[in-house]
Amino acid sequence: MTIHIGACATKVADTVLLPGDPHRARWAATAFLDNPEKYCDIRGMLGFTGTWKGHRVSIQGTGMGMPSLSIYVNELIKTYDTKTLIRVGSCGGMQSYVDLHDIIIAMTASSMHTPSTEFFGGLSFAPTANWELLRKAAECCKAKQKKHHIGGIYSTDTFYSERADLNEQMIRHGILGVEMETAELYTIALRHNRHALAILTVSDHLNTGAELSSIDRETGFTDMIEIALETAFR
Ligand code: HPA
Repeated sequence: MTIHIGACATKVADTVLLPGDPHRARWAATAFLDNPEKYCDIRGMLGFTGTWKGHRVSIQGTGMGMPSLSIYVNELIKTYDTKTLIRVGSCGGMQSYVDLHDIIIAMTASSMHTPSTEFFGGLSFAPTANWELLRKAAECCKAKQKKHHIGGIYSTDTFYSERADLNEQMIRHGILGVEMETAELYTIALRHNRHALAILTVSDHLNTGAELSSIDRETGFTDMIEIALETAFR
C-alpha cells in the first residue's frame, strides 16, 4: 500500500497507461478494458486495472504537472513494480506543420526544471524515451495511417507562461509540442531501468490559438489510447 495509490501490490498491472486527467482514466478504462476494476480513488486520482485483448493493463491518472506525476510514477515503480509506463496526454502544438489531432511521439523532453533536477548537480540531463516502445508506437501510427510526428517536446511547469521567449527558442530548435509531465516520467523511468514513452494528442496550437472542442478531443483521444495499447502489447 502507498499513501497516494493505496491499493495492495497485486492490484496494479506491469503495464500502466498514464493520462493526466483522472476522468480520462475512467473513460479509457470503461471504453477499452474488459472487466475494469477501480483500485485507486484517493484525492479523486482514479486508477483501474482490466484486460485488453487478454493482456492485463492499468490506467492511472497522474494529475497535472511533474510534481504530481512524480508521486504516482515513484509509487508505481517502487511499490507496484510497474515495468512499462506510457503517458497518454494532450499537448500544445509548436511547429506550423503540426496540426490539431496529430499525434506526437516524444523522443526526448526538454525542460527548465523537473523534480529530479537537483539530483544532477548542474548537469543538463537529456530524458529520453525507450527506443523499443517508440519504434512500436511509430509502427502503430503508420499502420493506422494516423498523422504523427516523432521528436523533441518541451515539458514546462507553467501552463500560463510569462516567458514567450522560451517558447520561441523551443520552436526555433524544432520542438514539436509543449506539455507538463514527460521530462520527469522519462527521468524516473531511466533511473529505475523501466520502459517509458509519451504519446500525445495535439489539443491546441501556440501559433494560432486553435483548440479542439470537447467532442473532437474524445475522438482524437480514442486514436491515442488504441495506439498506446497496441504499442504496449505489440
Ligand atoms: N501548454 C502546456 N501544457 C499543455 C498545453 C499547452 O499549450 N496543451 C496541453 N497541455
